[in-house]
Amino acid sequence: MTMDALHRTGGVPPGWRLTPPPGDVENGRRLFVDFGCSSCHAVKGEPFAAKAGAQGVGPELTGMGSHHPPEYFVESILNPDAVVVDGPGYVGPDGRSVMPAYPEMELGQLADLVAYLQSLTAGGMQHVLASVASTPAEVPAPPPVEASCFIVQAYDVNPGDLHAFETWFKDEGAARFFAYDGLLSIETWVDVAHDGPSMVTAFGFRDDAALARFVDDPALDQLARAFDAFAGPHGHQVVRQPPIYRAATLSADRPGAPAR
Ligand code: HEC
Repeated sequence: MTMDALHRTGGVPPGWRLTPPPGDVENGRRLFVDFGCSSCHAVKGEPFAAKAGAQGVGPELTGMGSHHPPEYFVESILNPDAVVVDGPGYVGPDGRSVMPAYPEMELGQLADLVAYLQSLTAGGMQHVLASVASTPAEVPAPPPVEASCFIVQAYDVNPGDLHAFETWFKDEGAARFFAYDGLLSIETWVDVAHDGPSMVTAFGFRDDAALARFVDDPALDQLARAFDAFAGPHGHQVVRQPPIYRAATLSADRPGAPAR
């Protein structure tokens, strides 16, 4: 096409779309906080949504992923004025969206943010299924357990939240989780012997189908996010064997000690 024609269609060929490369949901979730998106956009169930407070204004993005293709998210971020959603205070005195530009954002970060926005579907924990841990090299066999796959998260409890977390889990959280038929175990370990998060919680499921239904169920998604609200930002992984266990072949009790 001629340069003139190209200019007449807005500088891009008709129907031209920018499809972002696949991004990393968990990193996008971190960037959503780092770039300050969460100060204007609430996402139900996310811990940062609860803490956003009264900073900026912007539409809630809960469940967004089901409503738009990735190109829409790319454009919303790169060019907030392309489509200006109506809402109180969304437009400044200059008639432009109050959403800022992010000139320092890199392409990879954009892709990660878009991946995160896309993961915000009704059963918003779908992204958990994307991070399946690879089978470890050579490790002693795990003990026989009923659960065949686990959602695992390593985290530190938000400062000052431990007591409330323990109380919530004991009084309410555990029972609500176990109301779900395919969930067989919830176990938390504390490991203080290395840098990084000291707690690991594993949710054990009967099979892949049970795990898939769990992450797709909006009610359980909310419950999982209530749990997560006590922990700082962290990722989730799926593993196919207990994530932590005592290796029987390399553990020993002093002869005569009570058996365990
Ligand atoms: C200062 C507040 C503010 C910040 C910070 C902000 N936004 Fe927005 N955002 C808005 C407003 C207001 C709108 C609605 C007007 C518009 O469409 O531009 C919007 C619209 C959007 C939309 C389209 C929503 C819809 O319903 O179609 C997306 C997606 C979005 N923002 C993502 C982001 C992301 C990702 C970031 C961080 C990189 C971010 N925003 C940072 C205020 C903000």
